[in-house]
Amino acid sequence: MAQLWGGRFTKETDQLVYNFNASIGFDQKFYKQDIEGSMAHVKMLAACGILTVEEKDQILAGLSGILKDVEEGTLEITSEYEDIHSFVEANLIDRIGDAGKKLHTGRSRNDQVALDMKLYIRDEIVEIKELVLHLMEVLHRIMKENIHTYMPGFTHLQKAQPVTLAHHVGAYMEMFKRDFGRLCDIYDRMNYCPLGAGALAGTTYPLDREMTASLLGFYGPTLNSMDSVSDRDYLIELLSALSTIMMHLSRFCEEVILWNSNEYQFVEIDDSYSTGSSIMPQKKNPDIAELVRGKTGRVYGAMTTLLTTMKGIPLAYNKDMQEDKELTFDAIDTVKGCLALFTGMMDTISFRKDKMEDSAKHGFTNATDAADYLVNHGVPFRDAHGIVGRLVLTCIEKKIPLDELPLEEYKAISPVFEQDIYEAISLKTCVEKRNTIGAPGPEAMTKVVEENGAYLESLKHSQQ
Ligand code: ARG
Repeated sequence: MAQLWGGRFTKETDQLVYNFNASIGFDQKFYKQDIEGSMAHVKMLAACGILTVEEKDQILAGLSGILKDVEEGTLEITSEYEDIHSFVEANLIDRIGDAGKKLHTGRSRNDQVALDMKLYIRDEIVEIKELVLHLMEVLHRIMKENIHTYMPGFTHLQKAQPVTLAHHVGAYMEMFKRDFGRLCDIYDRMNYCPLGAGALAGTTYPLDREMTASLLGFYGPTLNSMDSVSDRDYLIELLSALSTIMMHLSRFCEEVILWNSNEYQFVEIDDSYSTGSSIMPQKKNPDIAELVRGKTGRVYGAMTTLLTTMKGIPLAYNKDMQEDKELTFDAIDTVKGCLALFTGMMDTISFRKDKMEDSAKHGFTNATDAADYLVNHGVPFRDAHGIVGRLVLTCIEKKIPLDELPLEEYKAISPVFEQDIYEAISLKTCVEKRNTIGAPGPEAMTKVVEENGAYLESLKHSQQ
C-alpha cells in the first residue's frame, strides 16, 4: 500500500478498504494527462516564484522520464498505488528525491483529478468527432451515388410514399451532423481549467491560474473553486451526446437488419462484416448491426448512472465522484468501436437497387400523387382522398397496382381522370417532382448533397 496521506493515522488501512477505495485499476488510463497537468503546474509554480527554476527543471525531467518509461513499458503501473496521482508522485520522489516532494504544492487531488479527466475527455472528443466525420463521409458518398435510386419511404413500417436512397440516408446524415455539433458544443463549454481550485477553496499561494489554463490549451480558468472540483456536468453532457449517437446508430442498424432480411433484400452486407451460423449452413447474419443496436443500452446506462450518482452529492468533492470514470471510459470505448464498425459496414454494403425500386412500385406509394392529380384538376383534397381510397380498394380486389388499372375504371369513379394520370403517378414523377427544400426530388437533393459536401470540407479543415 503506497499512500500519500498516512500522517494522521495510527493504524494501517484494512486491505479490503484499501482495495475498495483504490482507483488505480481504471484511472491509470489517464497517466499521460496526469503528467501533462503536473508539468504545466510546476512551470506555473516556478514562474510565480513558488519553486526555483532548478527544482522545476528537476521535476520536469523526472516527469518526462516517468512518461517515457511508462510508454516504453519499462515502468509498470501497479495496484501497489492507490491511484494514478500517487503512482506518479511516488515515482517522482523515488527518482529525484526532495524536489519531487514539492510537486503537489498548491494543489489537491480534487482539482488534479478534475483536470486529468477534462484533459482526457477533450482528447476523446476530438477522436470521436474524427470517427463521426468519417462516417459522414461514407454516407455522403452513398448519397451522391444514389440520387436516382428509388425506394419506398415508410411510416408505421408501412409503405407510404416513394423516396430515394440518397434521401433516406440523408436523414441519418442530418442526425450525425447534429451529433457532431453537440460534441463541438460540449468541448467549448467544458474547456475551462479547474487546476488551482485546490481541495475546494483555492489556495493562499499566489498561483497564476491564467497561465496554467493557457499552457494546457484551455480558454481560461474556471471561476468558482467549489464548482471546479465537483462539476461533472460535462461528463453528463457527453454521455447524453454519446447516447444520442448510439440511438442514431441503433436505428440505422435496425433498418440495415430489416433491409438485409430475406423479406426485403434491399441490401447485402459484405461477407467481411457478416457472420455465419454453427448449425445452419445457409445463414449469413447481420451480427455487427445487431451488436451495435445491443450496445446502445450500455451507453444509456452510463448516463443514467452518472445522473443518479450526482443527484444527492452536497458541495464540494465527494468520493462518489470517483464513480464517474469506469462508466465514462466504457461508454467512450463502446461508441468509438461502434462508430468504426458501423462505418466499415456501410462502406462495404451493396444496395440492391432493383429490389428497392420494385418495392417502391408496390404498396400504393403513389396514392397521394393520384389525389394530388385530382386536386390539380380542381377537386377539393378531401374529396380527392376519398376517390383515390376507392380506387385503391378496387386495385386491392384486382391485385394490381394503381398504374395497371384501366382508364375506364378510373373514369367510373371520377370522370376527371384522363390518360395523363399514368404519367402523373409513375414512380419517376412521384419522386422527381418533389423538389421543395429537403424533399427527395433530384433538384432538391443535389442542392443538399452539395451543401453537405461543403460542410464536410469545412470540418476537415477545422478538426484540431
Ligand atoms: N481517485 C479520486 C477520484 O477519482 C481522486 C480524488 C481523490 N480525492 C480525495 N479527496 N480523496 O475522484
